[in-house]
Amino acid sequence: DPTPEEQAFQARIDAGEKIEPKEWMPEGYRKTLVRQIGQHAHSEIVGQLPEGNWITRAPTLERKAILLAKVQDEAGHGLYLYSAAETLGISRDEMFEQLHSGKAKYSSIFNYPTLTWADIGAIGWLVDGAAIMNQVPLQRTSYGPYARAMVRICKEESFHQRQGYHIMMKMARGTDAQREMAQDALNRFWFPSLMMFGPSDKDSVHSKQSMAWKIKINTNDELRQRFVNETVPQAEFLGLTVPDPDLAWNEEKGGYDFSEPDWDEFYEVLKGNGPCNRERLGARVTAWEDGAWFREGLTAYAEKAATRRAA
Ligand code: 3HC
Repeated sequence: DPTPEEQAFQARIDAGEKIEPKEWMPEGYRKTLVRQIGQHAHSEIVGQLPEGNWITRAPTLERKAILLAKVQDEAGHGLYLYSAAETLGISRDEMFEQLHSGKAKYSSIFNYPTLTWADIGAIGWLVDGAAIMNQVPLQRTSYGPYARAMVRICKEESFHQRQGYHIMMKMARGTDAQREMAQDALNRFWFPSLMMFGPSDKDSVHSKQSMAWKIKINTNDELRQRFVNETVPQAEFLGLTVPDPDLAWNEEKGGYDFSEPDWDEFYEVLKGNGPCNRERLGARVTAWEDGAWFREGLTAYAEKAATRRAA
């Protein structure tokens, strides 16, 4: 049976109140937020790697500047979200240790390779498009610092999505080779983008409790359906084909019917066996180790400054 404190807490959630860091919260609520916000932050940081791979190879100076700005935005989103997670009592070093040891997850989508420039378009259009679907409702999540971080992040995501779609428009209307590259990128990123929303509701272990606590506002399947309904017309506008033979408009439900992603592939990627998992985690661990001297210098300087102030 819920304790009086848990009942009072749930009444606050049901009344749509925001929970702030210093206020009482059930340990499960705190742990769920540390897990989700931490993994969301990790996704932003690891998500810089696939796109970073093309900054030096962007086709024009303008595209290079746009991609550089987007990758820098993602770093900022990560730092924003790590700060939100720190309000729950976990340190940044602990979160990095969880990521580097494989204990903490990051979004499966970043374990796929970026083979051509069109992939950068598909990522902006589909991956940031899916992220927008997932993050807009999170602006109303019950935990104050997370909801406020989402407001700022969502503003920048629309630029991310728009620049990606613009790349796809350019290539879909370009030469045959460019159009084929755009179609190939859509073929490779379509189903992995659907997996970003998580397992189907029947297989989602956290959804029920996360919905009760308004940590999750919509279910995984609801957001996935919304993403498909909005994105298929965008693909048609590009003159590209969504790689799903079972995709069909269902007038009765007012949405598209579509094939389930390959959930075996999804769980393999989560286990670390995706195309780029080792490379992505390796890049993060190397960056962390290469930066050790700099962190030690900063800490030594801060300690010396503190001793001087104390003297
Ligand atoms: N990749 C990796 N792990 C995933 C996943 C995915 N696409 N989808 C689900 N999982 C994991 C969950 O983390 C959970 O594992 P855990 O208990 O070890 O954490 C397990 O699979 C079961 O899934 P559930 O649906 O029960 O888990 P959640 O209730 O946490 O739902 C979620 C998953 C919808 C991703 C939710 O965590 C969420 O909304 N997170 C915040 C948003 C987020 O992280 N988005 C990532 C997109 S990347 C991004 O936004 C960057 C942008 O700039 C592109």
